Amino acid sequence: MKIKVNKVEYNLDVESDMPLLWVLRDLLKLTGTKYGCGIGVCKVCTVLIDGVPEQSCLVPIGFVEGKEVTTIEGISQNGDHPLQKAWNELSVSQCGYCQPGQIIRAYYLISKIPKPTIEDINREMSEHICRCGTYNKIREAILLATKE
Ligand code: FES
Ligand code: FES
Repeated sequence: MKIKVNKVEYNLDVESDMPLLWVLRDLLKLTGTKYGCGIGVCKVCTVLIDGVPEQSCLVPIGFVEGKEVTTIEGISQNGDHPLQKAWNELSVSQCGYCQPGQIIRAYYLISKIPKPTIEDINREMSEHICRCGTYNKIREAILLATKE
C-alpha cells in the first residue's frame, strides 16, 4: 500500500492491520515517535493524520492509505521550528520520552490558535502524560514560541 509520511511517499508490503506506530518505527526508521502504553492513554505516540492528532499505536496502517502523516521529524528540517527553539531555550525536556508527542500536539494547537492562552494550552495538552512533570515548562515554551 502507498502511504505518505512527512511529504515522502512509501510503497509498503504490510498487513493493513499493522499499527501505524510499528510502520513508522520499525519499517521507516522514524524513531522520533515513541511507544508508551500501546493502548491510547499516554499519547507519546501522537502523530498528525491529515493535520489531526491521532495515537499511532491504535491506528491501523490501512486507515492512513491516501492520507498525509506528519511525525516529529516532519515539522522542520533542522529542528528549528519556533516550538523546538523554545523547547531548547527553556530546557523543557527531562528524560525526553514524551516530548515528541507533546511537540506534535503543540504544533497542532498553534495551527488552530496561533496565539493560545494558558486555558487553550491546558485544554489541548491535558491528555499528554509526562512522568517527569514538565507541564509548566511546556506551557512556558508554547507561550514563548507564539509570542512573536
Ligand atoms: S503508546 Fe500510544 S497512546 Fe500510549
Ligand atoms: S520528559 Fe520524561 S516523560 Fe516527559
